[in-house]
Amino acid sequence: MKRVYVCQHVNCLRHGSEAVLQAFQASRVADVEVIASVCQGQCNMGATVRVLPDNIWYCRVKPKDVTEIVQQHLKDGEPVDRLLHPRIHPR
Ligand code: FES
Repeated sequence: MKRVYVCQHVNCLRHGSEAVLQAFQASRVADVEVIASVCQGQCNMGATVRVLPDNIWYCRVKPKDVTEIVQQHLKDGEPVDRLLHPRIHPR
């Protein structure tokens, strides 16, 4: 079971995280739980999305990015490089 935490705190909301949450909720992937989370401490990089237990952090996620995360990461198991948080996942 994977869990997807989509921040619904002030800064991320300003960057459209409510629509990001709705897009994940609409995707309905088996064995994936989507959770509206409190602030995840990455407020200048919203919308912040964290996937556990993989411990993958995505930043500046837009609703249009959700399809790619769902298909490539949640279904196929490959994180989406271009959306990784650069400080947490340095290249
Ligand atoms: S407001 Fe989303 S990480 Fe802090």
